[in-house]
Amino acid sequence: MQQVLEQVLAQGYVHLRGIVGDTLEFTESLGEVFRPLQDESPIVTMKIEGNDLVANPYASCRTPELSLHTDYATFPVPPRFTITHCIDPDPEFPRKGLSIVVFIAPVIEHLRTHAPSLLRVLRTGEFPFRRNEEHALYHATTPTYPILDGEDRVRFDRTLIVPHLERSERPDRAALIDAVIHFERLCAERGERVEIALDRQEALIIDNRRVLHSRSECTMRHDEGRTVSREVNLAFLV
Ligand SMILES: [Fe+2]
Repeated sequence: MQQVLEQVLAQGYVHLRGIVGDTLEFTESLGEVFRPLQDESPIVTMKIEGNDLVANPYASCRTPELSLHTDYATFPVPPRFTITHCIDPDPEFPRKGLSIVVFIAPVIEHLRTHAPSLLRVLRTGEFPFRRNEEHALYHATTPTYPILDGEDRVRFDRTLIVPHLERSERPDRAALIDAVIHFERLCAERGERVEIALDRQEALIIDNRRVLHSRSECTMRHDEGRTVSREVNLAFLV
């Protein structure tokens, strides 16, 4: 395994500078690229486009802060590494559009001593993960997984779990919703949070199974008929 990936496994994340080339080329130089749809480009470009829920259905392209999550949480085996390659930083860089990494080890430690029953639910609960848009593209049915596996690898995204539970008639739905909300709050309050200001030609690589991540509020600027906003390329390694 590439030394930089070993570093990510040891530290949870690595912030790299001077990534001048093409995102796919860089990703391929590191390891096996995760391709959710075999026939399409595995690079996902995320450009901030405003805060209109209809025009921009993807939260990642809207300006407000994202909720804490892991990537591809609906997949049987989510990618191990997420690579965020910055094309253009937020116009108010480094104040806005920060990448956020949250280590959950202190949260698990807290759960172990103060809320073992919640820890049990997170490890054994059958949480449904359903993408509201385009779910059928990836999955015929709604998969269920625990939030923490036997090795405390995390899989989490409230926005994929809670809306589905709210519509379901499962007898344990209230308990599972409660567990999700409680876990998210503990991560925000007790998780170890690191903020990374990614500048142009910089990349952030995170261990997608050991940390949660999000992005802080973004802004947009209209400059002589041109819209300037944060734009990143995302790529994933298996
Ligand atoms: Fe993400």
